[in-house]
Amino acid sequence: MVLPVDVVVMAAGKGTRMKSAKPKVLHRLGGLALAQHVIDTAARVSARSVVVITGHGAQAVETGLCAPAGVALKYVRQEPQLGTGHAVQQSVPALADDGVVLVLNGDVPLIEPETLRALLAACDETHLALLTVDTGDASGYGRVLRDPARPESVLAIVEHKDASDAQRAITEWYSGVMAAPAGLLKQLLGMLKDDNSQKEFYLTDVVKHAVSLGQSVRAITTRDPVQVAGVNSPVQLADLERAYQRRLAHALMEQGVRLADPARLDVRGELVCGTDVEIDINCVFEGRVVLGDGVHIGPNCVIANATIEASASLQAFTHVQGGQAGVTVGPRAEIGPFARLRPGTRLGAEVHIGNFVEVKNSTLGAGAKANHLAYLGDADVGERVNYGAGSITANYDGASKYRTVIEADVHVGSNCVLVAPVTIGAGGTVGAGSTISKSTPAGTLSVARAKQVSLGNWQRPVKKKPA
Ligand code: UD1
Ligand code: MG
Repeated sequence: MVLPVDVVVMAAGKGTRMKSAKPKVLHRLGGLALAQHVIDTAARVSARSVVVITGHGAQAVETGLCAPAGVALKYVRQEPQLGTGHAVQQSVPALADDGVVLVLNGDVPLIEPETLRALLAACDETHLALLTVDTGDASGYGRVLRDPARPESVLAIVEHKDASDAQRAITEWYSGVMAAPAGLLKQLLGMLKDDNSQKEFYLTDVVKHAVSLGQSVRAITTRDPVQVAGVNSPVQLADLERAYQRRLAHALMEQGVRLADPARLDVRGELVCGTDVEIDINCVFEGRVVLGDGVHIGPNCVIANATIEASASLQAFTHVQGGQAGVTVGPRAEIGPFARLRPGTRLGAEVHIGNFVEVKNSTLGAGAKANHLAYLGDADVGERVNYGAGSITANYDGASKYRTVIEADVHVGSNCVLVAPVTIGAGGTVGAGSTISKSTPAGTLSVARAKQVSLGNWQRPVKKKPA
């Protein structure tokens, strides 16, 4: 293939059956907008440009999608919507004449690059080529009419509503995906009429017009229902989401990942796994997550934008929310159960973070531990620090945030407040219950709490008996 590929994505339809204020193509599957899947797939077949045809909710669609690297993303509006042929006609001014055009559907998210490459090969830079489907039930779809004398060539597509009973008996249907050289496609689009039961300009009529010009129209057929499945309703969206997750889960298992149950895994982004990774049930992965060799993820964890290094273990109900800054968990670290790691957390080797501990924008050196009910925010924690139960960094004075530095080998007792900015010197100890607002010298015991008193002449109140 030498000619550049330009992709047209039809996304102007209303999506009435979604019963949603959100345009249909922005509904998410695997964490990405439906149309974004299509645009990303276009990038994977090295498309030079992608023209998205918008109409209903155009503004939201135009701001809700993004261009993959190396692809020029353009939008063309179709108002009003007079059919799929009319939709593609709108893209003509945005399409160069020297390319091959691939027409895709914004609500058919799981078409695969290999299928598109096969279609482009069938098009061979000169022919109109169609992706057709043979999955048994063709009801509602455009039927593919072939020449009985030369079954390899397609004569026409007849829409379900316009088809005769004999035509409706045909099981091969048009997927909505086609490829053609730009010049030919533009010529055929100019020939469309709305003389049909729906008074629409059907894109599918390009087939009969190509035949009328003496062109042979080619087709390749898929039997994979997932690749050509469109989303029209919440039920279809959920069904396709499951199919998508099942495929991801199988690919992970083929690669050696041990999933406790492939039906209870949700990947809403990219999950990269090393060898001997184990993932228990009901885990959700978002954004880009990298799990190193031997990582163990317990049940019910939510992990977003994070790198978990080799042999680290995240126990049940751990929530890792890397955001923009990301989270790194060092090798052999033990996190959870019920731990929360927020953006900018960097944990060194063998760090322990226990239940109900929240860490944000903080670095913990190797072997540091915060095992119970604690908060570390905007802190730099040295190696081997032990941070006691119930202790917190008071990093925010209501206006600005400040850092807390806890140097190596410090022991912070239980229920301490470290009021930032403050530094606890290396090897020091902070007595339980202390509120530390001044930096402490290395190697000292710092205690900042009221002195204990025990009063002998004290009477515990007693309940008065009703008169
Ligand atoms: C279309 C095909 C049919 C095929 C089926 C596969 C036509 C005439 N028919 O039918 O042969 O079997 O897809 O799913 O093409 N759209 C616009 N502007 C419009 C109308 C539609 O952008 O004016 C968009 C829709 O948002 C949708 C896509 O085009 O993404 C397909 O439109 P839809 O109405 O679903 O076409 P079908 O009737 O399903
Ligand atoms: Mg449709």
